[in-house]
Amino acid sequence: MSELNLGRNVFGNPTDKGRTLSRDEAMRLLAEWVKNERLRLHMLQVAALMKVWAAEREVLNEQEQWAWELAGLLHDADWDQWPDQHCKRIISELESRHVDPEILHAIASHGPRYFGVEPFTKMDKMLYAFDELSGLVHAYSLMRPNGYEAMELKGVKKRLKEKSFAANVSREDITDACERAAIDLDELILFIIKYQPATV
Ligand SMILES: [Fe+2]
Ligand SMILES: [Fe+2]
Repeated sequence: MSELNLGRNVFGNPTDKGRTLSRDEAMRLLAEWVKNERLRLHMLQVAALMKVWAAEREVLNEQEQWAWELAGLLHDADWDQWPDQHCKRIISELESRHVDPEILHAIASHGPRYFGVEPFTKMDKMLYAFDELSGLVHAYSLMRPNGYEAMELKGVKKRLKEKSFAANVSREDITDACERAAIDLDELILFIIKYQPATV
């Protein structure tokens, strides 16, 4: 069993449904907890993808879009300072701040192999799906002379096959996440190529 296993499947309090942090509160928490700029950018990127997906693909209202965005924004908030308590720390913080259990569950299930929590809702599955793949696409943009400009699907797929490229990005998790979300890998890559540049 992974050392990061959360040992539980229920998070937060049902009476906190619909409660979130404000954008200011979320950004303050990020600034306090995450000193590593690359990690902060990663969370901003995943957050942006979650928001656009919620709006465009799930056609959710603004409040729901913010819930998706917030899950992306905070999912790795404790990784910088407490990697051995990854997920535990941010979840208990958000529980004490009465955040919606749905958001907590999405954060808790963004790495089923590590945290032992299965992605269940669409929000859970999309957070898991964007997490690793957005990192690989970003790494690819950094090695291209013009960043994201004119980036193509086939370039990303080539890097995916190259095990030594962004070696810390789990290909296994990417495949698993696409299957669970029932989303075609190509479609997901194209979505990231389209919407991720806005966050750079
Ligand atoms: Fe993580
Ligand atoms: Fe992440």
